[in-house]
Amino acid sequence: MIKNLQTPYFVIREELLSQNVEAFRNALNLFWPNSILSYSVKTNALPWILKWMRAHDISAEVVSDEEYQLALLSSYSPTQIVLNGPIKGEICFREAISGGSVVNIDSAKELKYLERYGLLQTERIGIRVNVDPSIFQNEDVGYQEDGFRFGFSEENGELKKVISIIQKASTDGNFGLHIHVNSITRSVDVYRQIAKYAAKIIRKYQLELSYIDIGGGFFGGVPEKTTPEEYLSVIREELKNEIDPAITCLIIEPGSALIGSAVELHASILDVKDTVHARIVTTDASRIYIDPLWLKKNYLFSSNAKKPSIPRQVICGYTCMDHDRIMVIEDYPEFSIGDDISFQRVGNYTVTFGGPFIRPYPPVYVESNGELTLVRKAMTIKDYYRMETV
Ligand SMILES: Cc1ncc(COP(=O)(O)O)c(C=O)c1O
Repeated sequence: MIKNLQTPYFVIREELLSQNVEAFRNALNLFWPNSILSYSVKTNALPWILKWMRAHDISAEVVSDEEYQLALLSSYSPTQIVLNGPIKGEICFREAISGGSVVNIDSAKELKYLERYGLLQTERIGIRVNVDPSIFQNEDVGYQEDGFRFGFSEENGELKKVISIIQKASTDGNFGLHIHVNSITRSVDVYRQIAKYAAKIIRKYQLELSYIDIGGGFFGGVPEKTTPEEYLSVIREELKNEIDPAITCLIIEPGSALIGSAVELHASILDVKDTVHARIVTTDASRIYIDPLWLKKNYLFSSNAKKPSIPRQVICGYTCMDHDRIMVIEDYPEFSIGDDISFQRVGNYTVTFGGPFIRPYPPVYVESNGELTLVRKAMTIKDYYRMETV
């Protein structure tokens, strides 16, 4: 815990954020200099982060009209925004196209919008491809039964139809392809398969793409895991026979890989008790702060607990939901009331995701060169009341 600060609070380590960005930038410079690095806003939509990304020349990848507006509020210009997803509203869609955003089309409904505007310039328009999950190993990618939700399938002929509609709408026939896949393992082999799949489509339809957008889903900032260079080298290797990287721009949309490892949550131990089954340690953290997807089993953590070790402690959150159990810690110093505990690498799908459930949002600080700056005030219950009242 940082002296005199009331827990719980998040800290963004600016140096780690910079290192994660630099790692991707260096890899892009090495393997695909003609590229756009864009940040997946939904992964952590804190305005400070968006302004930081904008100031470091990183585009914003957004998936709703509201995220589009948030990017504009955070000093982005339309040309620095990539608009994705299946819920684009027509007004936002038109604003994005006329403003020069990259727009990846997800459905037939959006094709109708395009036809309505009699589109000629398609250089910054892309088609989201619905990748067949059977090209991946089962342990790498889920959705094997029902497939992915997004984009157009090559296998049922929908992709072919869309390609020909966009080609007709275009003066120069140039457009992009978008292939993002959520994987379980973030394995480099997932990107090899994505790139091979893209290469097959490019070859089959003799496409001359203005861009290829490989999406996000990478590791970043975690030692021992795949590095940006390893991902980028495989992507280039698999695409180089079909695409000239000097002509076709590569877009990537990392979220977790940029912000995940740069954020910590600092908390305190509120209570310690024994039941007949376990040692229960209640904290003022919660899984809704650091794992709103309710998936993680372990965290990198540190604490100032000083007592001798005990075999097993169940670390729980502040909410009154019995399943708000953060993790089980084994053979670790016994926690006492008032001890500190902090959880590292908790930046993805947190901070703005958890919601003011039972207690309003905690504050967020940025640490830079040893100095702390408050970038989000703690929400008060009066703020909450105002927000939830007409
Ligand atoms: C289209 C798209 N791009 C980028 C991302 C970012 O993924 P990650 O945060 O895993 O890098 C996502 C996440 O689901 C996504 O759907």
